[in-house]
Formats: sequence, structure tokens, C-alpha cells
Amino acid sequence: MPKLIGIKKINIAVFISGTGSNLKNLINYSFKKNSKFKIVLVVSNNLRAKGLIYAKQFKIKKKIVHYSNIKNAEKKILETLKKNKIDLICLAGFMKILSKNFIKNFKNKIINIHPSLLPKYKGLNTHQRAIENKEKYSGCTVHFVNSKLDSGKIILQKKVKILKNDTFKTLKIRVLKQEHLIYPKALKKILSNL
Ligand code: GRF
Repeated sequence: MPKLIGIKKINIAVFISGTGSNLKNLINYSFKKNSKFKIVLVVSNNLRAKGLIYAKQFKIKKKIVHYSNIKNAEKKILETLKKNKIDLICLAGFMKILSKNFIKNFKNKIINIHPSLLPKYKGLNTHQRAIENKEKYSGCTVHFVNSKLDSGKIILQKKVKILKNDTFKTLKIRVLKQEHLIYPKALKKILSNL
């Protein structure tokens, strides 16, 4: 991570594909007095991602990249990241897998939030699978991104009890609340030793 010089804040790009509640939450957090970062770019592979309204609302630059060809898409994203002097990438519901080459360009500078207690339930439909397997807990994890799916070093994790009548929808809502607490905390944690 680059050193913070004086009052210079870390430039963050948030990657989304959908609703963007984590994006909105991180933006709000970035406005807090002691925040060490600012969100300067929102990247989406989906023109219709609801979360793009937050880029508009808070006047944050956005880059929409079509993923018909991964190589070209990533090339365009990397160029935009460079142009905007991005120090750190936060994935927040970004539904595309980043290539090894892309990750190499931002080694240890990409973090993700995942809706399970990793290493359990990597990939999709995490709450559904946790309920079906009669787990006592689900939860969420913020972790560094490496070339293996949902497998990088864990930064923070929060358990959420699965209730008797939970459906994946009700569980998702409760876990999302915790996501909104731990994502900024995880950022604070990794930025605090700067
Ligand atoms: C969250 O559940 C996150 O853990 C997962 O995708 C979802 C994104 O939600 N990676 P939102 O778009 O931030 O509301």
C-alpha cells in the first residue's frame, strides 16, 4: 500500500454489478472526519447496475465496461485505474472474476466482501447452501483477492445466526447489515498502519 503523505487520502475504486448498497455505505463512510480514503471511481460491467445512481448522486466518476471480451475489458479498466491514480480496489458485488494478470497489477491491493464465513461457501448462492446444509451460522467476510476464487487472506469476518424460519432472503438482509459494518472496519484495519 502506498504511504499516506500528509493529508493525502488513499484513492479507491469500487467495482459493482448490481444494487450497490455496499458502495453507498463506503461512500458515506468516506465522508467521515477521520476517513483515510476517498472513492474516486465506480467501475461496473453492467450498464443497468442500480448502484450507478450513487456515482451520479455523489458526483463520482464512473466507468462502465462491457465484458464481451475479458482481455479488452480488463485492459480498459486498468487504463482507467491508472488515469485516476487508484491505490486500492474494493469489490462490492462485482460479478466478474478478475484474471491473474489483472490481479498481478494490483497485488494485495484488491479486497472483496463475500456473503459467507469463508473458507466455507465460496462462489454463489451462499445463504441458500448454508440453510440447506443446516448450518447454525452464516455471515460475511472481507478478504484480499488472489487468483483463486474467494480464497485470499481474511481481513475481517462476522457471524450471523441462522434462525429457524430463515429463507435465503431474510438471511441475506441480516447478513447485508453486517456487511455494511465490517467493510468499512476492514478498510480501516488495513489502512491504519499507513
Ligand atoms: C453482497 O452480498 C456481497 O457480499 C456480495 O454481493 C452483494 C452485493 O450487494 N459480494 P450490494 O450490491 O452491495 O448491495
